[in-house]
Amino acid sequence: MSVMQHILETVAQFVPDKKRDPLIDRDGYLGQSLARVDGEVKVRGEARFTAEFKVDHMAYAVPVYSTIAKGKIRKIDAGAAEQAPGVLAVITHENIPKMKAPPIVDFHDIGKGFALSDLPIMQNAEVHWDGEPVALVVAETLERAEYAASLVRVEYDAETPNVSFEGLKPEAVVPPDIMGEPPELKIGDVDKALQEADASVDHVYRAPRYNHNAIEPHATIAVWNDSGGVAVFDATQSVNLTAHTLAYIFDLKTEDVRVVAPFLGGGFGGKIGWSNTPLCVAASKVVNRPVKLVLSREGTFRMVGGRTISEQHVVLGARKDGQLTALIHTGLTATTHSGRYAEQCTFPPRHLYASPNLFVGQKIVYLDTVANTWMRAPGESIGTFALESAMDELAHELRMDPVEFRRINEPEKDPTKDTEFSSRNLTEAYRRGAEKFGWSARNREPRSQRDGQWLVGQGVATAYYPYLRFPAKARVRICADGSAIVLAPASEMGMGTATAQIQHAADRLGLPLDRVTFQYGDSSLPDTPMMAGGSNQTATTFAAVRAAVEQVHRELLKLAQKRSDSALAGAKLEQIEARDGGLFLGGQGETYAAILQKAAQPSVEAEASSGPPMEMMKYSMASYGAQFCEVRVHAETGEVRVSRWLGSFDCGTIVNPKTAASQFRGGIVMGIGMALTEETLFDERRGRIMNPSLAEYHVPVNLDVPYIEIIWNDIPDEKAPWGARGIGEIGITGVAAAIANAVFNATGKRIRDLPITLDKLL
Ligand code: MOS
Repeated sequence: MSVMQHILETVAQFVPDKKRDPLIDRDGYLGQSLARVDGEVKVRGEARFTAEFKVDHMAYAVPVYSTIAKGKIRKIDAGAAEQAPGVLAVITHENIPKMKAPPIVDFHDIGKGFALSDLPIMQNAEVHWDGEPVALVVAETLERAEYAASLVRVEYDAETPNVSFEGLKPEAVVPPDIMGEPPELKIGDVDKALQEADASVDHVYRAPRYNHNAIEPHATIAVWNDSGGVAVFDATQSVNLTAHTLAYIFDLKTEDVRVVAPFLGGGFGGKIGWSNTPLCVAASKVVNRPVKLVLSREGTFRMVGGRTISEQHVVLGARKDGQLTALIHTGLTATTHSGRYAEQCTFPPRHLYASPNLFVGQKIVYLDTVANTWMRAPGESIGTFALESAMDELAHELRMDPVEFRRINEPEKDPTKDTEFSSRNLTEAYRRGAEKFGWSARNREPRSQRDGQWLVGQGVATAYYPYLRFPAKARVRICADGSAIVLAPASEMGMGTATAQIQHAADRLGLPLDRVTFQYGDSSLPDTPMMAGGSNQTATTFAAVRAAVEQVHRELLKLAQKRSDSALAGAKLEQIEARDGGLFLGGQGETYAAILQKAAQPSVEAEASSGPPMEMMKYSMASYGAQFCEVRVHAETGEVRVSRWLGSFDCGTIVNPKTAASQFRGGIVMGIGMALTEETLFDERRGRIMNPSLAEYHVPVNLDVPYIEIIWNDIPDEKAPWGARGIGEIGITGVAAAIANAVFNATGKRIRDLPITLDKLL
């Protein structure tokens, strides 16, 4: 734990809890199933995504990727490419502008920007992974750039790369920390507890690499201006962090970098911190023209990392009555020397079950590959696969219903942090889910249900994702016509951010929905080192907007109270209610328009910051859920079809049921892919990804996904802004385990290696 975190946690104990947010109990837009505010422009094709911006005199860049995993570039023959029609430049390490190596992710100082790897970007002849960009061709059209890129000849002095996860296992090391948490935790005596246990399980669970496949590939347009600044359209999960990173790399002031991202076609953790953005900016500098760089699908596999390969070992022991007595969960993941990111697969066992004896620990091996990164519930998705499979295995050993087994082991307080839960109603989510799914009708006996050629089974698993909130800034402007503009640098990656934020701001301000605009996706907005990641954005932005609204109300009250005839004379801010387009004290009040018009002021504006996330320091906070599913496994071919799904969640209040259900569903769909179809095929001899295309990397399609039913508790978490915890990532967690558990119920075969392909079931 860092010193800063320790101080915060200590201080947090003495900070009184914020009072229950009065908006939780008031009817408003929050909690309503509203259609996305940008739905219409998207359906009409009018929403501009990064690659769609039109800039005059644009040139197009196409990277050339290394075909060795380690070594040196001996020679680049760019002659033919340079002679090809329409080519403006072939950029290599020999002629690229000087760029500082980017800063690596550091959550204690995130404000300076970051990349997932601190390797210099195309600054020397070194090659660090198969797929690293070694040249960038810029031409008048995309087609000409692509053709010329195919003419670039690169000769290498190859060295033997470290690319075998299996081979490097003996050299695994304990990382200094895992996302700021200690890599190992030990409570009690697990060995003794296991000896005394009535039942135990001890298994290894494996998951392959997975790659990001957002429908919109990574895209950038860079435009330098005459005064040495640069404007960048970039498909990024954080405009501010990208601006800071670019400023750092190009030695500019942050004010001289403007990053804009109105819409993203998905992000999932993969759209931040990769070298495609600085390379585009560098190319634009070289050719002195606007340059567009859109990665091909193959490009996203070559130069953007995904989820690491992993191997986890889970050992559980329990008494006959189902009480867990020992829990061991260790994990091994891969990373790179330049990235050093150990995916937090052992986070779920730190918080899910009440076992008096526990050991969790993680190790990493260093490979010469593209850096791994966050991919929707990084760690928690694979972590819940291992832990929740093992829980099912132990329930089977105990001849106990897996839902009941989990209920018995529900902790009273956080099992490893020794703090209270802010709000945890996982048992209720299980109860409601089981009822709706019809769980009681399930036969616990494996291979007992058959429908013709199909073996049928049901499985269940816990979903878990921690709560996160970052300190943030927001600005609110109220205009004399009674409308309001809320400004915060959030990212709209498709999940309905703008809609949720307008709902919140409208309620906070007491304004009709159509009187509120939300401006986001632009680094010139209040600078916040925040990203749409870690499922934090809604809570983070709510807290900042709440602070800014309070501030703007304070100003308005002052303005009104300058007049002796004000209906708000003598009122204190705490007594005021914002409703009906103004401020009210009981039945008396004034509209915003009236206050501003009488003061002859066109608008009033305030910026404010939310404080540090004391609630996270003081409480154990997370979103929870129960994933129920049914699978059908073909008795002859081993084909697995998911035939039913029900996700029952406990994530606090739900801001917008319509967009929230979509987000849960999206996570579950991605989990189905993780469980059954997706796998990055990696050549362990050469270190090359062999299936860099959607033709060979199989994301689930419509026919792979059944109707997904989503329910939730809707119990407010009073420690979170408006009672709402994050929902962006939890959907994928528990999915692979629920499927593996259902496959076991259907077939009697326990698959511990993802993906669950038919060859493993024959
Ligand atoms: Mo999420 S993997 O933190 O975008």
